[in-house]
Amino acid sequence: MPHDWSIETPFDRDSPALGRGGYLTMGVGWYRKRFTAPAYWTERDVDLRFGGIYRRSEIWLNGKLIGGRPGGYVEHNYRIGDLLMFGQENVLAVRVDNSLQPGSRAYTGSGINREVTVLLRGNVQIEGDHPFVTTVSADGTLAKLRIRCGIRALSADAKSYTVKTALLDREGRLCWTGQADGELTAGAGEARLDASVPSPRLWSPEDPYLYRLVTELYADGSLTDTAETPCGIRYMCWTAEDGFHLNGRRVPLKGVCLHQDNGCLGAVENRSAEARKIAIMKQMGCNAIRLSHDPFPESFLTLCDEMGILVVDEIFEEWFTPKRMLALRKDRDKETIPVNYYAAFFKDWYARDLRDTILRDRRHPSIIAYSVGNELIEQRFSDPEAIPYLQDICREIRTLDGTRAVTCACCFDVEGADNSPFYQDLDLVGYNYAEALYDEHLARFPDRKIFGSENTSITPFLKRGVYDLDDLSKLQCTIDLTRGESIDSSKARHLSGEYSMRLHQSNKRIGGMFIWTGMDYLGEPTPYTWPSRSSYFGVTDTCGFPKDAYYFYQSCWSDKPVLHLFPHWNWEGLEGRPIDVLAYTNCDSAELFLNGVSQGICRFDPRQGMHLHWRVPYNPGTLTVRGYDPAGELCAEDRIVTAGPPAEIRLSAEQTVLHDLYELCYITARVVDAAGNPVPVDAPRITFTPEDGLEIVGVDNGDPTYTGMLKSDSIPTLGGLCLCVVRRGGRTGRFTVTAASGDLKPGTVTVCCE
Ligand code: GAL
Repeated sequence: MPHDWSIETPFDRDSPALGRGGYLTMGVGWYRKRFTAPAYWTERDVDLRFGGIYRRSEIWLNGKLIGGRPGGYVEHNYRIGDLLMFGQENVLAVRVDNSLQPGSRAYTGSGINREVTVLLRGNVQIEGDHPFVTTVSADGTLAKLRIRCGIRALSADAKSYTVKTALLDREGRLCWTGQADGELTAGAGEARLDASVPSPRLWSPEDPYLYRLVTELYADGSLTDTAETPCGIRYMCWTAEDGFHLNGRRVPLKGVCLHQDNGCLGAVENRSAEARKIAIMKQMGCNAIRLSHDPFPESFLTLCDEMGILVVDEIFEEWFTPKRMLALRKDRDKETIPVNYYAAFFKDWYARDLRDTILRDRRHPSIIAYSVGNELIEQRFSDPEAIPYLQDICREIRTLDGTRAVTCACCFDVEGADNSPFYQDLDLVGYNYAEALYDEHLARFPDRKIFGSENTSITPFLKRGVYDLDDLSKLQCTIDLTRGESIDSSKARHLSGEYSMRLHQSNKRIGGMFIWTGMDYLGEPTPYTWPSRSSYFGVTDTCGFPKDAYYFYQSCWSDKPVLHLFPHWNWEGLEGRPIDVLAYTNCDSAELFLNGVSQGICRFDPRQGMHLHWRVPYNPGTLTVRGYDPAGELCAEDRIVTAGPPAEIRLSAEQTVLHDLYELCYITARVVDAAGNPVPVDAPRITFTPEDGLEIVGVDNGDPTYTGMLKSDSIPTLGGLCLCVVRRGGRTGRFTVTAASGDLKPGTVTVCCE
């Protein structure tokens, strides 16, 4: 655990999940665990917690059905103490049914794909595991915090409670202590404490400083439950005048939408994979993530707290009206079919799923808004039946957590969607792909708080590192982005992303943007069909390797000088043909050289396309670009060399020490020529061989059309790169991974298992 069986199946053109489901096999699965319960468990309340099971789970303990959940993204708990058999074997069985296909608009995975935990606690417990801490006010000298600790007693005997709490800073220094005593009424109570913290250090994406609230709960004098709660002190608001503010300062959201699969691992929760994903986005200058389109594993939120990411926490992708999608069984197939997602469960389950999710998530300082839906059919068509549901959902969120904005990612492609009653209950309205409407809507609805919940990224529907020269030639861009000229389809793929960036940068009334997507994900290969089985929208591929577009966002969003040149310079047979050379940069100007000969200085003109462009007759050798700041000083340089034939594999490991079974080591294999230059064009199949103390979890090359197994030990490179993910195999020591391919000099890397 966690486990996704679908990623272990072959990509199958006939899969009922269709391309949206990544052409993988879903179906029905059973899990069984036999275990003995230690005698000391009899003294405690025993809870079994599933972080999420995809989906329609039924859970049986010793032959008795104890529950289950149709939705796949919700945490669920079961009190199992009374059903356990002590001194003999217990059997836990879980049935998972993901057979109703096509079941989703993107890959979901199947199985117990999030953490499973056994919790042992006393009979009087902290509700939701943690007190809920909110910032009432904060400035440089003092922060006032409100602490609410819900208490629930599982037996009627408990009468009184005492809650003792202490707030510690990151160094463990005591900042505040408090105590609340009270009586339980019908087994429930709530301790209320107000804390004052002198000279608080505020949480922000730049400085994600977390305090720790340590809580002890006593019932009738005995310690019965404890909690350690990370706390971020920060305050925020959304305005119609100038977007989102954090700690009194306007913070434009430089956001990405992410799906929750982890590439070759499948849709499983894994802290290392998630931390890596967030780190790759942060290095791009991203400060915000929209969780698309359902609640993520809680570990992801914890990492956003720790690493400094602002989160839009989306609760539902679908309400009671099913979405439809193109079947795309073959090219140009225009048949649309309903998706068997959440609609069938919505009316019976939304209230419970919502409540459980908010109670789980609200303690995470990273969350800035809850999104109640994505492109809901009910919103697009202004369905009056949806309004009472919307009101109920908004009311419940505000009851449980009055500190976050409530939003919805909306579509404006249907008449009447611009001014539907739907928006009255929202604090802010998310606009999906509707940049062209911002000005008009801001004028018509001056109080509406708007942000770009989904925006086109610069993804030319191509694979990382693979170029179509005709396509690149269309980017000799003369379009005036400031006037929002209509973008003809040949340019649209790159330029609508640039246009969107320009609009969000210049319009302060919009809270920011969330590009679709930060990373490629399994399924939804739109607009393609088999053998494409994963998406092309990401600015990194499914390995997390940057596409060129990544550097565009980095040049716009980060402070460091960025200068990125493309395409590669291995065009054997095309000598003399003019090739379009582009650069993404935040330098003021740049000069390109081929083999030392200047190809001209290109100025960065903010009124035009947001990339630099040269047309250079191809000759093998070295392309060098030098970037200059406004004072004419050299501030960045990039270089591309025509590579010779592949000679060697070089490995680099992102992490060389593994501490536990869940920690992963990501190893990149690069094919280089005899002089060590990366070879972008050949695609040798690389076989990874780990020593006994390591196990391969998966391989990937980021190619959406690669249909070999990702649970494998070998894969061809794409654009000179591939990835192998390993974990420890149980033994401690230092172990080597070797990568080999035919005559190439093999690469090795050593990983230490502690
Ligand atoms: C959006 C949708 C996303 C994804 C995207 C692809 O409309 O919200 O889930 O399907 O389109 O372009």
